[in-house]
Amino acid sequence: MQVRFADTRPEGAHDLALVAAPGGAPAGVPEGAGQLVTDALKASRFEGEAGSLVELFVADQGITRRLIVVGTGKGEATDLQKAAGALVARLLTSGTETLVIELNGVAADAAATFAAAASLRGWRHDRYRTKLPAKQRPTLKELVIVGADGSGWDRQRAVVEGVSLTRELVSEPANIIYPESFVERCRHLAELGVEITVIGEERMRAMGMGALLGVSLGSEKEAQLLVLRWDGTGGAVKEPLALVGKGVTFDTGGISIKPAAGMEDMKWDMGGAGAVAGAMKALALRKAKAHVVGVCGLVENMPDGKAQRPGDVVTSMSGQTIEVINTDAEGRLVLCDAITWVQKHHKPKTIVDLATLTGAMIISLGNEHGGLFANDDSLADQLIAAGKASGDTLWRFPLGDAYNKLIDSPIADMKNVGPREAGSITAAQFIQRFVDEGVRWAHLDIAGMVWASKPSSTWDKGATGYGVRLLDRFVADNFES
Ligand code: BES
Ligand code: MN
Ligand code: ZN
Repeated sequence: MQVRFADTRPEGAHDLALVAAPGGAPAGVPEGAGQLVTDALKASRFEGEAGSLVELFVADQGITRRLIVVGTGKGEATDLQKAAGALVARLLTSGTETLVIELNGVAADAAATFAAAASLRGWRHDRYRTKLPAKQRPTLKELVIVGADGSGWDRQRAVVEGVSLTRELVSEPANIIYPESFVERCRHLAELGVEITVIGEERMRAMGMGALLGVSLGSEKEAQLLVLRWDGTGGAVKEPLALVGKGVTFDTGGISIKPAAGMEDMKWDMGGAGAVAGAMKALALRKAKAHVVGVCGLVENMPDGKAQRPGDVVTSMSGQTIEVINTDAEGRLVLCDAITWVQKHHKPKTIVDLATLTGAMIISLGNEHGGLFANDDSLADQLIAAGKASGDTLWRFPLGDAYNKLIDSPIADMKNVGPREAGSITAAQFIQRFVDEGVRWAHLDIAGMVWASKPSSTWDKGATGYGVRLLDRFVADNFES
């Protein structure tokens, strides 16, 4: 959807939206339609709640026009998102091509929030629907915002583009997105000034990345380590912030195979890597004044004659050995080598990893917060604040020695799973064993956030793009001058 800011209402065919807060009346009602609108709002028991809609048709500029009054509640960012989302959800396949909304005097930030939410709610993945009836196809092409300060939109548009890339990567099935094709879908970031490095299995073997490569053994697809580096500081900041994403393009569980029911969901087990790629795109598009390196550990977890077995011992790039008790606990095996690699080659002072790591996290937090683990309180606070501000919310969990002990192994330095209890925490403890002394590190277990079974104000069912807005905000607030 195109977004355009204008000083006055355009003429011609479009739907018109007007906003109203609780207790207030909408401004900008077309001449002669005042009574009709007042009666319609009363009859609909409209009270201005954020996202509530009343739809009617009025005579305007000599044509019959659809007029929608939308409630804006308290006018906070989430209220504006609700209003935008409700409008787009209502009009996306309505036959309307242009929606004009009066946001007279609305400030830059709020107008951009509204525009971003509208764009995000309008995003769909229809590539494989060849027989969608005309009436179910999206028609809404343009949003015209009248009377608001449009200066905040460029920045938000970059974030919307980043979220869209993440959603695309997450939505595509695993026969289309596998490690090498994930890399290809990110190649266009080079045109934005992102430095792209791709490391294949041969080089990973030479570097001793036995944990990541062990996961890939059962797959016909070659694993890839994708490195995306954006330096918007012109070389002034030497050590970048590191973002590391779990990119398991399909997770069957391997030899510890998952049950058939719901296994198709594991196409989105690359949502952490997808968020990293989308965040890098957003940062590059808006020319963020920060130095950030994004690392995506891309691998497919399959059962096969060549696959690793439960009980196998692998040696990670760090030199630490791991007893692979359960081949379905593969994400941590991918992350540990990706983290070792980025520490060795980029010396980051701060690392944030994102992963659809444990089903236990969905049991803990449902689909409302990502789980946050951190070895540093200030980093945890920065991420929680960015989560609140962006809408990609986080909730912190504990770490500690008692949990760490649970993954000691009798045969190797550690095992890749602990007991059933505290499964998300022991997974985080595993990753922490690979974080160097003095490095601030946070792990975001986003298993419950990547995919939505119901629509919200900024997404339809399906890929949410979780993490992009969070990381963009985290970088803007803490890593830019
Ligand atoms: N990718 C899964 C976690 C997951 C499950 C994400 C459901 C989203 C929805 C991960 O690789 C996994 O299989 N984890 C196991 C760990 C267990 C074997 C210790 C799990 O959560 O069951
Ligand atoms: Mn798994
Ligand atoms: Zn997995």
